[in-house]
Amino acid sequence: MSKVTVVGAGNVGATCANVLAFNEVADEVVMLDVKEGISEGKALDMFQTAALLGFDSKITGCTNDYAQTAGSDVVVITSGIPRKPGMTREELIGVNAGIVKSVAENILKYSPEAIIVVVSNPMDTMTYLALKATGLPKNKVIGMGGALDSARFRCYLSKALDVNPNEIEAMVIGGHGDTTMIPLARYASYKGRPVSELLSKEALDKVVADTMVGGATLTGLLGTSAWYAPGAAAAYLVESIVHNQKKVIPCCVSLEGEYGQNDICIGVPCVIGKNGLEEILDYKLNAEETALFEKSAAAVRGTNDVLKEINVL
Ligand code: LAC
Repeated sequence: MSKVTVVGAGNVGATCANVLAFNEVADEVVMLDVKEGISEGKALDMFQTAALLGFDSKITGCTNDYAQTAGSDVVVITSGIPRKPGMTREELIGVNAGIVKSVAENILKYSPEAIIVVVSNPMDTMTYLALKATGLPKNKVIGMGGALDSARFRCYLSKALDVNPNEIEAMVIGGHGDTTMIPLARYASYKGRPVSELLSKEALDKVVADTMVGGATLTGLLGTSAWYAPGAAAAYLVESIVHNQKKVIPCCVSLEGEYGQNDICIGVPCVIGKNGLEEILDYKLNAEETALFEKSAAAVRGTNDVLKEINVL
């Protein structure tokens, strides 16, 4: 039996729960929200699709009742406010830090063995906060940004090449911010062929630029943060954990010397399996990529420092 809790039944959390149930990733999916009735309602609505879509996962919802989440194998934290057009993810820290900290602490009371997947923004800093606040080992606290950003990179590459996104390999590392993420164009390929052989430099530069502002573009179009790809990206990560798929997914994890960094959670290529983070893969970065990674880490560190300024850590 596997059980997954999604905290926060907003657009991203509900989409994640829906994908988890529809794909039968877990036997039981629990949604929890602070807003009275919202999780119960969305869970019931989703469960009524079981007889139409043919899935066997059970979905329930609750209002702030952490006892219902007891014994979860994985807990996805999506709580907090989303960004509005023109806002950066970093601007959300003041509100979201307190929420994420208290959610992480409550979760552990009922699911001490759970692996935590952090989605709330600013995601790198919220992952760092969840790690520090819970004292969990580094394999058990994983931020999902890189899975989403890499899916967006593959989407934009597939549009530029006019090919199936599933046949593209591409990864985004670094922070999950408009200026901190690093689409690794040099390692991107279509059926084994480097995309740099298939696209002009201008076209590839545009794909990279579009990927970096992928979230902001959607916020501009939708008036709020995106949810289909963020929810699916979190579910993709959960699936690799619950089904021990050992997929290589760029995730935000705690670094202890890897990529030249310490005391930070930031996106790097990871093997994700039943223990959560199983291994950090050592991709060889060239001088330019290394410089970008260092700049990205410095920016994430700057946001992490705010946690102390606002007395959350
Ligand atoms: C995005 C938000 C979820 O990138 O960070 O759409």
